[in-house]
Amino acid sequence: MTDLPDLPPYDPTSAESLADPFPEYARRRAGGCPIAPVESLEVPFWTLFGYDDIRSALLAPKTFSNRYGNTPVFQKSIGFFADAPTHTHFRAIFRKRLSPESLAALKPQVQALAERLLADMLAKGPLVELHDDFALPLPVKVVSILLGIPGEDYPRLKHWSDALMDNAFGKDNQAFLEVYQGVCAFFDAFLDERYATLAAAGIETPALEHIGTVLPDDWISDAICADYMGRKLTRDEQRIALMGLLVGGNETTTSLITNVMWRLLERPELWEQTKADPDRLIPVAIEESLRFDAPTLGTFRTTLCPVEVAGVEIDAKQKLMMAYGAANRDPKMFEDPETFRLDRDLKTVSRHLAFGAGSHSCPGAPLSRMEVGIVLRLFVQHMPQVALAGPAERSVGYNFWGRRSLPLCIG
Ligand code: HEM
Repeated sequence: MTDLPDLPPYDPTSAESLADPFPEYARRRAGGCPIAPVESLEVPFWTLFGYDDIRSALLAPKTFSNRYGNTPVFQKSIGFFADAPTHTHFRAIFRKRLSPESLAALKPQVQALAERLLADMLAKGPLVELHDDFALPLPVKVVSILLGIPGEDYPRLKHWSDALMDNAFGKDNQAFLEVYQGVCAFFDAFLDERYATLAAAGIETPALEHIGTVLPDDWISDAICADYMGRKLTRDEQRIALMGLLVGGNETTTSLITNVMWRLLERPELWEQTKADPDRLIPVAIEESLRFDAPTLGTFRTTLCPVEVAGVEIDAKQKLMMAYGAANRDPKMFEDPETFRLDRDLKTVSRHLAFGAGSHSCPGAPLSRMEVGIVLRLFVQHMPQVALAGPAERSVGYNFWGRRSLPLCIG
């Protein structure tokens, strides 16, 4: 057993951590005991900072469970917030639209959306706001295609998705309830319309064969037609799935786009190198950005039994934050971790934990990699002279690490 190091209490919402969480992560890792209690927030929890401890916990779901959700709040066990075997079956229903074959079929649509947004942004130049003009709408529109909802309403979808995320981290309950009910009503209208279509076709029991024939080929139809452990999903499970997919694919991919451009333009020689060798360096830039600036700084697990973690005895039913942002800069894992570098080996840098690990690891990872790959290629081709035009502002929320404002001059 290790004594907790003699450091001031860890508060991820302190002004210093909000401005830049990484120096504190480094202090915690260097203290020989990469774990700290957080007692300053509404819900107390532990934070883990070391790569090996975090990865081991993520791969031990019988001890570090997801059945109380992956946020500091104790949530109802439903849908993605569950352990095997229910979680495995639930996830399988939605994962096939993120398979390599499905993504290859989706790619031309993502390319067309990105080209349209870029043309609009270029027309506004020379001063543009990368977040508002491009990085925010693209992921919402892409997720909307997969869900089967209109993407034009992206400001509302984005607002909902932010509000749902905010609450997950222990915010105002009344505001959350209003948003939650609004989102439920929104998805219910689509679900009801699909059931009416099935009824009009004389179908009482929806089945997979009705997808692409009677019903559109999208996640809403999957939520209706798929079998889930010998039954169909309940309305609550359908809503939770659709909300999870809407939220999961938004802020994160927006952050990846703004973060990677921020770092490449902060040191213009990196942008020049990327332009000179895009085939090789765009994939490295994406993985290095995910490592260096994890868009989700951490997610949570709950201990199901007393367990020793990083030398400290943790009781059962304790929330633990897996600080991916800290793991990704662990010097035991990555050489020169505090420098953003394009000369890293792609395979080695891809071991970052920005997408988590284990049975809950992000199913959207290949989609966001594809999306951002398309985006960087377009930027290299169509705005080679781009430069930062003002300070970047970080996104709101201690657990999210992206730019909510990135002013650019596109030349
Ligand atoms: C750069 C982009 C993204 C990042 C950094 C990211 C990050 C993550 C992380 C860290 C997790 C693991 C949560 C945990 O283990 O507690 C996760 C899970 C998840 N992500 Fe992503 N994500 C991204 C893009 C997407 C996209 C594009 C989608 C869908 C369209 C998506 C949907 C989901 C879902 C549904 C889960 C829950 C999986 C489960 O519990 O089985 N994500 N994401």
